[in-house]
Amino acid sequence: MPPPANGLTIERGVSLRAYNTFGLPAVAHTLVRVASDIDVRRVVDHRELGRAKKLILGAGSNLILSRDPLDVVVRVEIMGRRLVRADADAVVVEAGAGETWHDVVAWALEQGWPGLENLALIPGTVGAAPVQNIGAYGVELKDRFDSLDAVDLVTGRGVTLDAAACRFGYRDSVFKRTGFGGLAGKSVITRVRLRLPRAAAPVLGYLDLERKVAETGIRAPDARTVFDWVCAIRRSKLPDPRELGNVGSFFKNPVVSAEQCKDIIARDPHIVHYALADGSFKLAAGWLIDACGWKGKSIGRAGVYDKQALVLVNRGGASGAEVLVLARAIQESVYGRFGIRLEPEPVVV
Ligand code: EPU
Repeated sequence: MPPPANGLTIERGVSLRAYNTFGLPAVAHTLVRVASDIDVRRVVDHRELGRAKKLILGAGSNLILSRDPLDVVVRVEIMGRRLVRADADAVVVEAGAGETWHDVVAWALEQGWPGLENLALIPGTVGAAPVQNIGAYGVELKDRFDSLDAVDLVTGRGVTLDAAACRFGYRDSVFKRTGFGGLAGKSVITRVRLRLPRAAAPVLGYLDLERKVAETGIRAPDARTVFDWVCAIRRSKLPDPRELGNVGSFFKNPVVSAEQCKDIIARDPHIVHYALADGSFKLAAGWLIDACGWKGKSIGRAGVYDKQALVLVNRGGASGAEVLVLARAIQESVYGRFGIRLEPEPVVV
């Protein structure tokens, strides 16, 4: 293919099956890859692409494609990792949005900068990590976040956002929100900086990690050990997207008031619940779905993983529409039994 005049390679009619970890078969009318901030600006300035609605794609590990994207798909392939600064109390590292998240976690650990080990093996790219404020085993991205760079898709201007501007919530940020003030489809994250405190104590409060401490008798594990434990826990519970299409947890864990929680416990004393700082309670969506008998079940070619009911899987050749039929059936049965509405966790387009 000859190099295009404006430096952008635009592909038409591209199957996105290999570009989303659920393996859904949508076709992008137009796909453009961006490898730098300059490329993003070229998209903004482009006669045809500039005004089109955009779907920003990383590794597609938190995305359900329920239709062919009518939008222009912008695949972010911005690479690079570096140490930004080493202060007395913390190091700040930076990675390109197209880097694989887990590789950056492993790299930081090898450099002697722990702090990300609880977030090991989360599928996806660095640029996607702030979008849903990824979290696992007691640590969320926002706990290690310094700032990020993004390019505005209307003006082409580069901006730097701190944590407050990102409006992180539980599996949520300004980049997931549409409507006024939301940045979904309106800006491309190009680089993320992470602040890794030198004196960070290992975070071991999550039940699965407490079990590892008890099993091994290692009461003060180093970061490498925690990394290995987290990888082992995830491998035992969560399907590898290369073998079985999935997007991790399909629903958020619902938060209910203390009164609602008491009510539900009175009916179901075994319900898994965690007290939150503000007096409300988080319920385990996986437990609710499991209690409704969904584990291992399928509708069409979309199924519920047999080891973790919160994960929906592609049993082979599922369409996005089939996945949504299954998701709705689960939502209805959980609502019918517990009166709780489960909210999808991935971005659905
Ligand atoms: N449970 C069941 N049956 C199931 C699944 C879970 O009874 O089929 C119970 C478990 O026994 C446990 C509780 O539900 O008591 C919670 O399960 P687990 O510890 O596996 O965590 P989770 O709530 O299912 C959340 C995150 C995961 C993250 C883990 C570990 C959400 C939506 N999910 O899962 O994140 O890895 O905690 O921190 O918050 C993701 O976001 O894609 C993701 C995988």
